Amino acid sequence: MYRAGQEEIDEIAKVIRSKQWFRVGDEKSGHLKEIDRFEQEWAKLIGVKYALLMSGGGTAGLVCALAALGIGPGDEVIVPAYTWLATATAALTVGAIPLLAEVDETLGLDPADLERRIGPHTKAVIPVHMSGRPANLEGILAVARRHGLKVVEDSCQMDGGSYKGRRTGAWGDIGVFSFNYFKIISTGGEGGCVVTNDRSLYERAFVYHDSGAAFRPQAGDLSIPIFVAQQYRADEVMGAIARVQLQRLEGILADLRRVRQTLADAIADQPGVRVAPSNDQAGDCGVMLTLQFQDESKARAFASAAGGGSFVLIDHGKHVYTNWTPLREKRVAHRADMNPFNFQQNRDLRADYSDTACPRTLEILRHTVHVPMDPDWTADQLRARAKTLKAALS
Ligand SMILES: Cc1ncc(COP(=O)(O)O)c(C=O)c1O
Repeated sequence: MYRAGQEEIDEIAKVIRSKQWFRVGDEKSGHLKEIDRFEQEWAKLIGVKYALLMSGGGTAGLVCALAALGIGPGDEVIVPAYTWLATATAALTVGAIPLLAEVDETLGLDPADLERRIGPHTKAVIPVHMSGRPANLEGILAVARRHGLKVVEDSCQMDGGSYKGRRTGAWGDIGVFSFNYFKIISTGGEGGCVVTNDRSLYERAFVYHDSGAAFRPQAGDLSIPIFVAQQYRADEVMGAIARVQLQRLEGILADLRRVRQTLADAIADQPGVRVAPSNDQAGDCGVMLTLQFQDESKARAFASAAGGGSFVLIDHGKHVYTNWTPLREKRVAHRADMNPFNFQQNRDLRADYSDTACPRTLEILRHTVHVPMDPDWTADQLRARAKTLKAALS
């Protein structure tokens, strides 16, 4: 979350005063319908028919998306080796097994490696748009179509960015966004959203996120039977914050991109470094200036001299698959018989999370550095930052 202020406070106050905090309510009795309104606004922005705001964050969104697609025991779900671990754990939550594939120098899933890793039990792929950088969606979707894979786009780190003129999240069967505190916009510290053009996927995600829906009048609009699942409903305070944050989104993106471009221009002529290739520079959110060096020692020297939160990506904690300890040790669920790694249907599935599973990803992460941006840097701060980066490179 980059920006917040009086507008959020005012809208929250209206919800509090209305005393209508639950998602469902009657406008005639003062219900503000903030969630419904946000969902319509977000769907319009992304360019899809349906959006579903939820608590439980992008993690809940990924689980709802996989559940909506009917993914479960006996299925492999391909995930990139560089992503927040929730991308992989969502597959386990629905009883499936996550299968790793390499990222390429853009930090998105490598379509060629995706294709190499597909096996007879592979049912879905989750491309991730890491740090606001679009994955190679055309390449990934072509592979997915050839092999009949479902595509869940993990756009959790890319609220509002685009790929080739169309917003990310709208390309796959279902897209998922996170609005947690660390994301481009936030719905109050936590929150997530699922988008799709497919009515039946929307309904299944809706039921999964609110298995109590059977008890409310809106359930009458559903064309599928209710089933028991989880409770990830959003509340009206979230909805109100979401709507204000949405108003701020384009301004934040424009400023992030401007700042990133200024810094990229400042170091353009420096030897031994390059700006990491992008699948679509214009659609990239500009959250980070991503630089690549000849080797790890040069990357480390730069990151420490550049400061300001710069880091070598191999140090990116639980975004690096070798740090997914419970998954590597196959410790899942609260009982051994609910652990998908023990399921009979999963016994022939591949589950390699060892250091040798995705060596190319680890190598790329060792020589790549993220330099964080602030969309609200003044011209003087930006000039000073550019100077520091240039000095760090020499
Ligand atoms: C790529 C990615 N996927 C999924 C998630 C999960 O989102 P949340 O933390 O909102 O559950 C995150 C959040 O950090 C993420 O970065």
